[in-house]
Amino acid sequence: MELKTVKIERADGIATITLNRPEKKNAMSPQLHREMKQVLTEMRDERDLRVIVLTGSGDSFCAGQDLKEFFAETYGKPEESSKVTRTAMEWSELLRLNDKPTIAKVNGWCFGGGMRVMGLCDIAIASDKAVFGLSEINFGIFPAGGALKVPIELLSHRDALYLALTGERLSAAEAEKIRLINRAVPHDKLDAEVTALAKKLIEKNPVALMLTKKVFWRDKFMQYTEAVDWELANFAVISEMTGGEWVKEGITQFL
Ligand code: COA
Repeated sequence: MELKTVKIERADGIATITLNRPEKKNAMSPQLHREMKQVLTEMRDERDLRVIVLTGSGDSFCAGQDLKEFFAETYGKPEESSKVTRTAMEWSELLRLNDKPTIAKVNGWCFGGGMRVMGLCDIAIASDKAVFGLSEINFGIFPAGGALKVPIELLSHRDALYLALTGERLSAAEAEKIRLINRAVPHDKLDAEVTALAKKLIEKNPVALMLTKKVFWRDKFMQYTEAVDWELANFAVISEMTGGEWVKEGITQFL
């Protein structure tokens, strides 16, 4: 499928995926969902690819679901609507459970489903010009398809409910304060900060990064005892997958 709504750049082990509908503030249309699924499926098995950066073109990261193409035009067409929703959820899982670290480079407007996508990335660095919001309530709906669950997992009970009930906008500084993002940086430093972070991640062992994420997502929803067992079970996998590299190189070198 020729990509029309998403742009890809690959350089030095870093893939940058750019949501590319700047004229619609990168709102997620059915076509964008199909293209994102295709792109993330292809990237899943690319071994040379070490970090994925997700960003938006123009002045927006992502203005959420396309109100016209995703909602209005599929309203009353349950088959069409469930098909596009399923595609959206499929690529969201490819993003969340990606073996490679993912960084949301939040360059501007970030609303509703866009906030969900940002939250599914492992790390979020935002421009000081970025603006966030769970704006669904302003359209008489509520955040769905994980758009409520993701803030619930990331934020405090109070902050998640406040944002969902009021639909108020948050500045990047406020988003950093409530830990919706890792940090806000000056707009003209955003590219450099994200590239430096990606390079730092590339220096780490990719198997250890992959296992950290795999263990993290199960740990998050487990009780303590089960989580400890799960961590130990996966720890054995590191030696197996890297041929004991962590002992030979990591620890011996340090000693
Ligand atoms: N779905 C579909 N189209 C969208 C959109 C969305 N979520 N967000 C923006 N657009 C479109 C606008 O309709 C407009 O299209 P047009 O030029 O054909 O009229 C175009 O993008 C530019 O938007 P505009 O509102 O003119 O730009 P702005 O700079 O004044 O404001 C935003 C930008 C992002 C603040 C504003 O567009 C907005 O609030 N969008 C809705 C975001 C949202 O709440 N999303 C969650 C939906 S549940």
